Amino acid sequence: MSKPIFIVGFMGSGKTTWGKKLAKALDRPFIDLDEVLVQRVGMTIPDFFSLHGEAEFRKIESSVLKATNMPNAVISTGGGTPCYFDNMDWITQHGTAVYFEHTPKSLWMRLNASDVNKRPALKGFTGEELLDFITEKLADRSPFYEKAQIIIDQINTPIAELTERLKHDV
Ligand code: S3P
Repeated sequence: MSKPIFIVGFMGSGKTTWGKKLAKALDRPFIDLDEVLVQRVGMTIPDFFSLHGEAEFRKIESSVLKATNMPNAVISTGGGTPCYFDNMDWITQHGTAVYFEHTPKSLWMRLNASDVNKRPALKGFTGEELLDFITEKLADRSPFYEKAQIIIDQINTPIAELTERLKHDV
């Protein structure tokens, strides 16, 4: 039986878009962990953050991750999922993690105003302030993301090449 593929990486790195394409190309089901969490708590992520706070969000996110161990699926995680509790070790033990790596500048250019509003973790920053925030946060999070078994320079790796690699490696 195959193991799940977990897509990890910073907000705006294309985890959901690429995860869907990969799932289709590999003929596997696709799961978006953020969506599973939203269904479980019955409200949007910004509403959950403002009502219950980030610490509570991280606890639920971790339990949703560990309850969503569907063999064969391509699972896109939230940008912070691998960086709390033992989540990243759990991910690499239970599946194959693929990290879509970007520079802070590339993420900054990919995150537009509506993306910022949907993501409370970005704290409403815009312009240079957003770039500074991404640079700092990515430095904190990279050690977790880099535990992934497969690291993809997403900008320069065509989907067909990535799919071929995963067909052989996973
Ligand atoms: C978060 C990323 C979001 C979502 C939440 C917190 C983060 O997911 O889980 O807003 O801390 O990086 P995406 O990476 O899918 O935007």
